[in-house]
Amino acid sequence: MPGLLLGDEAPDFEADTTQGRIRFHDFLGDSWGILFSHPRDFTPVCTTELGRAARLAPEFSKRNVKMIALSIDSVPDHLAWSKDINAYNGEQPEETLPFPIIADKNRELAVKLGMLDPDERDKDGMPLTARVVFVFGPDKKLKLSILYPATTGRNFDEILRVVDSLQLTAYKKVATPVDWKPGDSVMVVPTLPDEEAKKLFPKGVFTKDLPSGKKYLRYTPQPE
Ligand code: BEZ
Repeated sequence: MPGLLLGDEAPDFEADTTQGRIRFHDFLGDSWGILFSHPRDFTPVCTTELGRAARLAPEFSKRNVKMIALSIDSVPDHLAWSKDINAYNGEQPEETLPFPIIADKNRELAVKLGMLDPDERDKDGMPLTARVVFVFGPDKKLKLSILYPATTGRNFDEILRVVDSLQLTAYKKVATPVDWKPGDSVMVVPTLPDEEAKKLFPKGVFTKDLPSGKKYLRYTPQPE
């Protein structure tokens, strides 16, 4: 089965992009990375997504996340489309975006990474790429994968929110509860004994009483 599962290492592929030829591991370096795929250039939903991604680029950069997009068209198409994306954002119609777009004209990477949407096809009957989001950690392992069909645009505020959760929970023994936003309280992970939790979280651990009598709902203010 092609595709990537949580914990898999990012394939070290080579590809042509709008910023030249890259080798993926070199591109990622020691940073976090986000790879997001698009069905096709010059399509409406993709244009809005890439416009939003471009506007949020400083936020990803603040979090040490390198962004890279993929679409199944050529570099010249990607560059021409980038002008439209900048114009959509109300900017000068330039060919540059704050991240590269991979040219996957033959769908080789899309197949390898399990990105094709069988329900959306081009005029020749070939499947288009689905809207995949892969987030890689600095160890180049897959930390998060989101898969949307071509017809449903993603929410990039949500993607930033999950990056915040991934980075917090990678370094602290906490998990983020439903609808968590940065600054909200977090949950102590179930495997951490109470005594250790008290030491690790000096701002306090607050346990909610439950009918079962089990003390598993343990909150703590978001650690620094
Ligand atoms: C779009 O980006 O608008 C789109 C692409 C493929 C199928 C449906 C919508």
